[in-house]
Amino acid sequence: MAGTDPLSRLLKIEHPIIQAPMVGVSTPELAAAVSNAGALGSIAIGTSTPDAARETIAATRALTPQPFNVNLFCHRPASADSEHDAAWLKHLQPFFAEFGATPPSGLSEIYRSFVDDRPMLEMLLEERPAVVSFHFGLPPTEWIDALRAAGIVTLGCATTLDEARQIEAAGLDAVVAQGTEAGGHRGVFDPDQGDLSLGTFALVRLLARHCQIPIVAAGGIMDGAGIAAAQSLGADGVQLGTAFILCPESAALPPTGRC
Ligand SMILES: Cc1cc2nc3c(=O)[nH]c(=O)nc-3n(C[C@H](O)[C@H](O)[C@H](O)COP(=O)(O)O)c2cc1C
Repeated sequence: MAGTDPLSRLLKIEHPIIQAPMVGVSTPELAAAVSNAGALGSIAIGTSTPDAARETIAATRALTPQPFNVNLFCHRPASADSEHDAAWLKHLQPFFAEFGATPPSGLSEIYRSFVDDRPMLEMLLEERPAVVSFHFGLPPTEWIDALRAAGIVTLGCATTLDEARQIEAAGLDAVVAQGTEAGGHRGVFDPDQGDLSLGTFALVRLLARHCQIPIVAAGGIMDGAGIAAAQSLGADGVQLGTAFILCPESAALPPTGRC
């Protein structure tokens, strides 16, 4: 049964808690365990092809009938600049040499951004996961409209008030307020603009004053007291990443003892 608070009603969950999407760490097993417990599990497909992402969605669906979130990277696609790339490769040459390796002759983009990946959009419109979230920016407005028209709830991650305003203006359903304490991927929209490095509580307070859509606090929240504190500052719910890393369902490797 869904909780009665606005975020739980929106996400059709019992508790307004989201397990953060974490590329390399979150798994279908982790997302399903969280969703089966009444919160919202997430899978991270920011580094996946559409086929691999479809398989991850199917693997999660096989483990839970509950809603879960599918997370995408919306970074600005890289533009080729041979002079700039050559300078980086020259800079990195000694590090390759240290390990007896040869640097590549050129650089290529490691992950395809969702903003440039129409087959991924088509896959999502076919699969219709309950929730989709965006990191490092937003896709084209028509794509957001298409996902919402398919009944998918959309979340965007903001590190500043300006990014939150863009998320709200694009018609997304809720905003994840990611403070600088957050582990892992830092969701700034435009790295060239720099990072204001607002803490989670300051950002939540700011967004609570200026945004109309539900706010999900993320960054440095590890327990019930942290959740209560975020809620008392105006968050409708929370997103926790680091706190889930040690779960048996996580894909994080055990420490090797080496530095
Ligand atoms: C190992 C790791 C990987 C992450 N990868 C992603 C990701 O793929 N997509 C995303 O939107 N956020 C990612 N994040 C950020 C989380 O969404 C969230 O903002 C963060 O975990 C909250 O801070 P906390 O770790 O202190 O709870 C990652 C976080 C961690 C710890």
